[in-house]
Amino acid sequence: MTTEITSRVAGSRRHNARTSESPRTDAWNHTDILDLDDFTREEIDTVLELADRMREILDRRIARVPALRGFTVVNLFYEPSTRTRASFELAGKVLGADVLSLSASTSSVQKGESLIDTVRTMRAMRADAIVIRHAMAGAPYLAAKHTDASIINAGDGAHAHPTQALLDLYTMRRHVGELAGKRVVMVGDIAHSRVARSDLWGLAAVGAEVVVCGPPTLLPRGLRAGDRPAHAESALPPVTIETDADRAIAGADVVMALRLQSERQEGGLLPSLHEYAQHYQVTAERLARAQPNHLLMHPGPKNEGIEISGAVAKGSHSIIEEQVTNGVAVRMALLYLLSGGKELPGEAAPAREEARR
Ligand code: MLT
Repeated sequence: MTTEITSRVAGSRRHNARTSESPRTDAWNHTDILDLDDFTREEIDTVLELADRMREILDRRIARVPALRGFTVVNLFYEPSTRTRASFELAGKVLGADVLSLSASTSSVQKGESLIDTVRTMRAMRADAIVIRHAMAGAPYLAAKHTDASIINAGDGAHAHPTQALLDLYTMRRHVGELAGKRVVMVGDIAHSRVARSDLWGLAAVGAEVVVCGPPTLLPRGLRAGDRPAHAESALPPVTIETDADRAIAGADVVMALRLQSERQEGGLLPSLHEYAQHYQVTAERLARAQPNHLLMHPGPKNEGIEISGAVAKGSHSIIEEQVTNGVAVRMALLYLLSGGKELPGEAAPAREEARR
């Protein structure tokens, strides 16, 4: 299990992200984005509504607006990433921000510089927002305590990945509409998945019925009411737990396959990959038990043939690539909100401009 560096930072502080000229952002009260456990339903709605407008900008033939001119975003990635890092980079660039990407392997981190020093150095260069991915749960919380730049958690160990959860909610909502009462089933390595944890908070806030499914060794402790820790703050919202994938998927509106997080697993959790795939791979046969118009999702990177079959990943119910596109729009919305949302970018857009797609 991952080490907790520090506990959650309560409340928000520093600059107020709202201005009187930013309509529909009144509910927003965050200076950092660390997880969704402290997001209200209204804040989630604010992000998703704004993401719609950002999606419209992203789909223009020339996807550029100056809403974040003069705003500097630094990507600080201590773990590998393809889509999250590129997504933040593009989100910032579409809105006219300056974006800088640093990876631990090519920065002074290699010379022993601490996370706190690196973050403070970036702030000294006037970074406004610092996006952090780190193998240690809690690392972005620690950073947030030592800088007044906005910290965005882009994945901390097995703990949280709030921007992925928001893009998941946004993508589901675009297809399904109101998510209250919808059956959302996550299948795979729930225990080590930061995506699953943040999704649980987001889905609980919007009233979805959540089912998590995996072999008992890959289901986290703390999910069952009986084994919740006394300090409820670190407990996860209530969900249905299922170890049989066929039963879990039956009647699902949304099925999300999750990768085996082998980089975070101790050995001996699975008898064999072959056996795991046999029992938990999301296949066409299993999806035949879901609702006829179900959606298939995956946060990526996916290992086809293990947690998901290649055929369904590319099949007609799959919205996996759309998740990636929507990720840019949601991150645009988040950067915009953190910047104080001075000019609403949609307003500057000529309505007649051709859509790119
Ligand atoms: C993550 O960074 O957690 C990814 O989006 C999901 C994964 O790595 O499987």
